[in-house]
Parts: sequence; C-alpha cells; structure tokens
Amino acid sequence: MLTIVGNGAIGNLLALQCHHLQFDYRIVVRNQSPSEIRCQTVHQQEILRPVYQRSSDTIEQGLFILPLKAYQIIPAIGQFKSQLSAEVPLVLLHNGMVDHAQILELLPNNPILVATTSYGAFKPQYDGLNVTGIGATQAGWLRNSDDNLGYQQVFEKLLPPCSWHKDILQILWRKLAVNSVINPLTAIHNVANGELAKQPYRSTIMGVTKEISTLMNAVNLAVTQQELFANCMAIIEKTAGNYSSMHQDVQYKRKTEIENISGYVVSQGKQLSIPVPFNNELFEQVKKIETYYL
Ligand SMILES: NC(=O)c1ccc[n+]([C@@H]2O[C@H](COP(=O)([O-])OP(=O)(O)OC[C@H]3O[C@@H](n4cnc5c(N)ncnc54)[C@H](OP(=O)(O)O)[C@@H]3O)[C@@H](O)[C@H]2O)c1
Repeated sequence: MLTIVGNGAIGNLLALQCHHLQFDYRIVVRNQSPSEIRCQTVHQQEILRPVYQRSSDTIEQGLFILPLKAYQIIPAIGQFKSQLSAEVPLVLLHNGMVDHAQILELLPNNPILVATTSYGAFKPQYDGLNVTGIGATQAGWLRNSDDNLGYQQVFEKLLPPCSWHKDILQILWRKLAVNSVINPLTAIHNVANGELAKQPYRSTIMGVTKEISTLMNAVNLAVTQQELFANCMAIIEKTAGNYSSMHQDVQYKRKTEIENISGYVVSQGKQLSIPVPFNNELFEQVKKIETYYL
C-alpha cells in the first residue's frame, strides 16, 4: 500500500503510475477532490479514478510519500506524525531543501527516503493532469531501515529510471545549485531558461555557484565551482524552451519555493559564517516580487 499526500501535479502523476503498475494506493487530500482526472500523458489520454482516504485514518504500512512544495513538508509531517506507525518509511519528494535535522527529530524512528525528479507535470484545471516530460529520479536514504530493498524496489518503479545514492546530500546540493540559478533568475527577469545562457547573466551564475561550492566544501561535500557552473549551463541549454516552476509561480501569483532554495543557501551562509551576497540578492528580489501579490 502506498499513501500519497496531496493531489498536486506530482501526487496525481504518482497515482497514475500506481494505477498503471496495479499498486494499491490512496491519496490523502485536504480539499474537495475530483472523482475523475483527465490525464494527458506524452503518449495517450486516459481517465484516472483516484482512490482517496480521509486524513484522520492511521497509516500502518507501506510507503508514505510527500510530493509537496518544500514549504509544505514540515507542516505535513507535523500533521500526520501521530497517525504514522514508526516503521512506515517516508518519501520526501520536492525541490529545494528542508531542515532534515528537524524532520529526523520529529520522527525519531521512521526510515526516511529523499528523492528528486526531473519529471514534468501540471494541472491545467481542477480535474486535469498533463504529463509534460518523462524524466529521471535520484534517491537515497536519510535514515535507513533493514527492509529498505523491498521499499526501494517499489519506489524505483514509480518515476523511472531511478538511481540510488549513498550520499544523497551531494545530489540534493547539486540540484540546489541548479535551482538557485535557474528559478530566481527566470522569475525575476520573466524569461525562459534558455535566456540565461546569454552573457549578462554569466557573472551572477558564476557568483551563485561559487558561493554554493564554498558552502558545500564547508560541510565536507566535494565539488568545484567549475563543476556546478558547467552543470547549470548544460541544464540551461537542455531545457532552453522551458519555463521554470518559480517563473510559473510568479506568473500565476502563487507562493514560490524561494525560502527553500535561495533562502536555504542564505541560512546556511549565516550558520557557517560564509557570505553569500549573490544568493542573498536573488532571495531578496523574489521575496519583494512575492510581496506584491501574496
Ligand atoms: N510539477 C512538476 O513538474 C515538478 C517537477 C519536479 C519537481 N517538482 C517539485 O515537486 C514538489 C511538488 O510539486 P507539484 O507541482 O506537484 O506541487 P503542487 O501541485 O502544488 O502539489 C502539492 C499538493 O499537495 C497538497 N498538500 C499540501 N500539503 C498537504 C497536506 N498537509 N495534506 C494534503 N494535501 C496537501 C497541496 O494542496 P493545496 O493546493 O491546498 O496547497 C497541493 O495540491 C515541489 O517541490 C516541486 O518543485 C515538481
């Protein structure tokens, strides 16, 4: 049994995958939810009739997946904590960074898996799901369990291909570097990802990646600024026609994940007494844009 929290874009995509794989699943929702979802995948159109569960029921087995906005993760854990058996593994599936120490403290026994995916999906309307890209997933355990292989075999079928990483923090920080460049810059300048390949953005991208490589080195994660910079430029080129999630959030006047992206970099800089002026500037600019509509 898999429990999926929320019927967002990725939550519904996971439900659709479970349906295809004939996995037993349910979605825990907090809002009114459609009995049918019209799904447009890369290959076909189909109707999904999701299985929902009331959020007050206890969860005693299977994976408990949180495909939420980063700022929703800790409140959701606080909400479900008392309903979760200690052996139920959690899957944190989001962009940006959350406070892992706080999560490990909130749940002192549960196995915890963290994952990041490059699949693309959005909800064009209340009862719709468009899957815009088949991506890849990277995952690893923050806290392990004896039975992790069985859970891994289930999870890796959901958003394949899935690679497993012993040092998942390396992966998350590298993804954070990409998100810290592409998300705020595209949101602030109202451009598609590909625009960032142009010369005027270069010094900011250099600055942002330099600061993040310094922070990574300070927490014993081996990386060079050149690696982070080259990786960002490669992703900018590969996704040139895409609009980032933060760009979309600003366009649709939704709360962004800036607190968990540039904001996380800024908080780590403070904690480690390492100045991060480039990241701080992007953080402040996006926060300012948000104040106009939130
Ligand atoms: N969509 C993509 O293509 C994509 C790709 C890669 C990574 N990601 C990352 O994946 C994460 C999820 O993205 P998303 O696009 O799926 O976001 P989303 O559409 O906003 O989905 C989150 C859903 O969870 C619901 N929710 C939040 N807290 C809940 C709770 N305590 N109980 C029940 N439901 C709850 C939200 O409800 P409300 O509407 O009431 O808040 C919303 O429906 C983000 O970090 C995003 O950056 C997304």
